[in-house]
Amino acid sequence: MRLKNKIAIITGAGSGIGRGIASAFVKEGAKVVIADWSEEGGKEMVEQIKKEGGEAVFVETDVSKAADIEQMVKTCLDKFGRVDILVNNAGIYRACNLHEMTEEDWDKIIDVNLKSVFLGSKRVISEMLKQGKGKIVNIASIAGLVGFAQSSAYCASKGGMIALTKEMALEYAPQKINVNSIAPGVIKTAMTKDMLDDLATKQFLESSTPYPRLGEPEDIAMAAVYLASDESDFVNGEVLVVDGGWVVK
Ligand SMILES: NC(=O)c1ccc[n+]([C@@H]2O[C@H](COP(=O)([O-])OP(=O)(O)OC[C@H]3O[C@@H](n4cnc5c(N)ncnc54)[C@H](O)[C@@H]3O)[C@@H](O)[C@H]2O)c1
Repeated sequence: MRLKNKIAIITGAGSGIGRGIASAFVKEGAKVVIADWSEEGGKEMVEQIKKEGGEAVFVETDVSKAADIEQMVKTCLDKFGRVDILVNNAGIYRACNLHEMTEEDWDKIIDVNLKSVFLGSKRVISEMLKQGKGKIVNIASIAGLVGFAQSSAYCASKGGMIALTKEMALEYAPQKINVNSIAPGVIKTAMTKDMLDDLATKQFLESSTPYPRLGEPEDIAMAAVYLASDESDFVNGEVLVVDGGWVVK
């Protein structure tokens, strides 16, 4: 088992990629905190893990709020006594032309996708420094590497996440805290459902992905297992692109 007895917090684990990561972590021996603002999705995931014989706890969390992040980490420490891994995965997307985007929408996307990484990492790093080791995995996007129309705030948030990953990696490498990001391509989840329900958009996304299928949450989960495990101790500040070849075209 690659994550035996490790304690992991996974944000946005009530759906999609976060669920895939939580399942894979538990299979590899980790105990997990499911942090999501959706009580329904989060609790369902905890039940699923328990049925499969794993250990998990749900904490209702809005990752853009410092008080909620504090409660998330407290729940983890109260239940499991330490935190070895943080996966900053919770995120939102909204398609909108830049000139039509409201300031509120801009702030919301930046707060949920980027400020959350600052808040969550800041809090767990304090614990990881005491423990002498830690792993932070940020779920960014290929939208942080290449442009996507109608995605200004989303692209900015994911580009910021990749830059922040490198900054944190440098700052905490001497204390054996690894910080890396994953840049998924198109993955079949609730976030992409509307796009994939539209035949023309689906065909465009499939034809833009050289590998002959779109991504599944498990594709990202396996990359996250690697970056959360001791196997990747010498990997720091990286962006692991998992996109079926979209950005190398
Ligand atoms: N699906 C894709 O194609 C794709 C591609 C690249 C990157 N990503 C990124 O992967 C991550 C997961 O996306 P997904 O596709 O699984 O989407 P999803 O919508 O299926 O899941 C997102 C989860 O995050 C939770 N969440 C949203 N805002 C939150 C908040 N403020 N506080 C706590 N929880 C919150 C939601 O309740 C949901 O459970 C996101 O960061 C997304 O940007 C997704």
